[in-house]
Amino acid sequence: MQTYMILIVYLKLVSYVISQCAQNAQGTTGNCLCMQGYYGINAEIGSSCIQCPSGTNTTEPSNSTNGNTNALTNISVCNQCSLNFYMNAAASTSQPIASAQCTACPTGSGTQIPSKTPTDISFCSICVPNYYMTVAAFNPIPGVKAFPAICIPCPANSSSPLQTQTGALVNCNCYDVNALPFSATQTTCTCLNGYYGNVSSVEGGPSGCTRCPPGMFSVGGIPCQKCPSGSQILSDLSGCSCYDNSTGVNPWSFYTNTCQCRAGYYGDPSKAVSGTTDSCSPCPNGYTSIAGIALQQSDCYLSGTTFRAVTRFYVVIFVSILILL
Ligand SMILES: *[C@@H]1O[C@H](CO)[C@@H](O)[C@H](O)[C@H]1NC(C)=O
Ligand SMILES: *[C@@H]1O[C@H](CO)[C@@H](O)[C@H](O)[C@H]1NC(C)=O
Ligand SMILES: *[C@@H]1O[C@H](CO)[C@@H](O)[C@H](O)[C@H]1NC(C)=O
Ligand SMILES: *[C@@H]1O[C@H](CO)[C@@H](O)[C@H](O)[C@H]1NC(C)=O
Ligand SMILES: *[C@@H]1O[C@H](CO)[C@@H](O)[C@H](O)[C@H]1NC(C)=O
Ligand SMILES: *[C@@H]1O[C@H](CO)[C@@H](O)[C@H](O)[C@H]1NC(C)=O
Repeated sequence: MQTYMILIVYLKLVSYVISQCAQNAQGTTGNCLCMQGYYGINAEIGSSCIQCPSGTNTTEPSNSTNGNTNALTNISVCNQCSLNFYMNAAASTSQPIASAQCTACPTGSGTQIPSKTPTDISFCSICVPNYYMTVAAFNPIPGVKAFPAICIPCPANSSSPLQTQTGALVNCNCYDVNALPFSATQTTCTCLNGYYGNVSSVEGGPSGCTRCPPGMFSVGGIPCQKCPSGSQILSDLSGCSCYDNSTGVNPWSFYTNTCQCRAGYYGDPSKAVSGTTDSCSPCPNGYTSIAGIALQQSDCYLSGTTFRAVTRFYVVIFVSILILL
């Protein structure tokens, strides 16, 4: 047991001695180099590798002349910008010695490659993931200043890959596989028609949208509903259409979810089947009706009888309130 422990300590010591490079260096004793983004005159133990200023980087680690690890090395080897920064001024190798001057691209925009030479803000020509591009970057011309790509964040619960070209909201994708795709009119993530629930808020997570039972519709993830009698479900599962669509029938609407006659007609289109027409007949001359109330001709009332009309109107309101409650 003891010899075993000693062996482990010994092996650890050996590996420690073999890889004796300074912090932020790579390699093994005698062959240590500062890591990319760091510089130093020596990268062996006892020496140190200094981090380049924020937004700057070195080229690949090297101990050649002008490399990031050699006797003459100084901050001027921090001569390229980090990704998504653009270069205002190059590094200076003579006094006053300086690193490159790099500025972060505006939020959402970025660079395709790290800047190695002085550029301007138009080098910020891409949109980083989860942003889409509305306006491309503009290279300056006399009298017109450069500007970066204009990048807009994807809506909540959606993402996009890095964008190199102008696009639109459609470049973003909802996390939920059962969400409606974005369009000019669909600007938030909601469940597909015919699915109910709340879209997933986790990329790659399980869908929060569940398919409605057959024959039921849903829009925007609301609870599934049955189509009223006298109607059939639309093929896109977003609602219903009354079998009878002849004059006098109020077209199906999401808000009423019924098949009934318009004002001034009587009849019962909820009894219609495929092919039925003329479920609703106009009230006789001088008579009228309130939408959906008159099932028989006798339910029509004299147009002039405002008292009865008003009473019926308030009865309808009262009943509607009862139903809503
Ligand atoms: C540095 O350069 C010398 C000779 O140019 C070479 O022998 C040595 O291996 C190099 N060190 C590293 C870490 O590459
Ligand atoms: C700083 O480093 C650069 C690159 O290694 C070198 O060319 C230059 O001579 C150095 N400058 C000074 C003052 O040491
Ligand atoms: C420096 O460049 C390397 C290679 O492109 C990259 O992996 C690293 O993240 C960069 N470091 C900084 C601080 O930009
Ligand atoms: C959707 O979210 C609302 C509010 O958080 C919650 O009340 C409802 O139960 C959720 N619906 C489903 C189907 O999970
Ligand atoms: C993102 O998804 C979560 C979970 O479904 C939901 O509560 C939230 O309202 C969604 N955000 C937007 C802006 O749609
Ligand atoms: C009425 O419905 C029939 C078949 O159901 C359809 O062919 C026709 O286009 C519809 N008419 C109107 C005005 O919607």
